Amino acid sequence: MDYYGFAEAVERIVDNVERAVAGKREGVSLAVVALLAGGHVLIEDVPGVGKTLLAKSLARSIRGEFRRIQFTPDLLPADVTGTNVYNQGEGAFEFWAGPVFANIVLADEINRASPKTQSALLEAMEEASVTVDGVTRRLSEPFGVIGTQNPVEHEGTYPLPHAELDRFMVKMSLGYPDEEAELDLLRLSADPVGDLGPVVGLAEFLEMRRLAEEVYASEAVLRYVVSVINATREHEAVYLGASPRASRMLLAAARAYAASRGRSYCIPDDVKALAPHVLAHRIIAVPGRSSNGSGGGRAGGVVREILSSVPVSEAV
Ligand SMILES: Nc1ncnc2c1ncn2[C@@H]1O[C@H](COP(=O)(O)OP(=O)(O)OP(=O)(O)O)[C@@H](O)[C@H]1O
Ligand SMILES: [Mg+2]
Repeated sequence: MDYYGFAEAVERIVDNVERAVAGKREGVSLAVVALLAGGHVLIEDVPGVGKTLLAKSLARSIRGEFRRIQFTPDLLPADVTGTNVYNQGEGAFEFWAGPVFANIVLADEINRASPKTQSALLEAMEEASVTVDGVTRRLSEPFGVIGTQNPVEHEGTYPLPHAELDRFMVKMSLGYPDEEAELDLLRLSADPVGDLGPVVGLAEFLEMRRLAEEVYASEAVLRYVVSVINATREHEAVYLGASPRASRMLLAAARAYAASRGRSYCIPDDVKALAPHVLAHRIIAVPGRSSNGSGGGRAGGVVREILSSVPVSEAV
């Protein structure tokens, strides 16, 4: 596959998902790019806007195994990772693989689980493996988590610790469809997801991941990423800036985005396009400082300000 084929495959996936998820092309594309960059996606939105639908449709489009975990306060770590169960017949323990052993894992209402259970997902998300009773097992490949949380109902939730937020490559919302899209979704069949077939295979998806990693990033692009990340740490309205993990994720996301545009090389505009989605949820703004406008709250405003003020370094 070349980068032209990469772009075409991304379009096929997005088109396919759109047959079930009406009018959300931008959000769908962002989720696809993040997964291709090896990342996890956090969707924060109100009920009924298509979060579950998006995760399921994506999994079907890449012929991936889909599992859903509904996070509740009484969910245990073993309910996520799996556990060793005693088999009477065999007279031995055997491993029951938890729902995290799938290609696309929907972690629904992730902020409703206790910190202990949330942290069971941490190792999985960071290392692509889980350890149960001292034995470490690799997860499936590809493995991508789509986490959801509800922005309005905070009662009985455990806000995600920063370390966990930092593990999501992008955070996004879907939002209500516009009128045309709402009409379209009324015209959909009773089971639009069930009607979806795969448009790329898992092996092809993995090959795309590899291609995304190989996108060329010049010294100028690397320096631009560093300047943007540094600016978040030095900004006067920021209490906690972006981590080195964020630098790597920003570059990885920019590479996958470039590939989705059919390019074998990354340009600073790719970094600009992805930075708001990659950075806003990792930055903690100083309370009470002015926010300039919509999207991502105060931290989103800071990122926009940084992108408009940090100069793109000249090629060296
Ligand atoms: N953009 C959309 N296109 C097509 N159908 C949609 C869209 N948004 C919502 N729906 C319809 O609404 C139903 C609920 O969507 P879904 O289950 O994905 O919501 P959700 O965001 O996961 O909600 P919750 O937070 O309650 O889990 C879907 O089964 C689908 O019929
Ligand atoms: Mg849902």
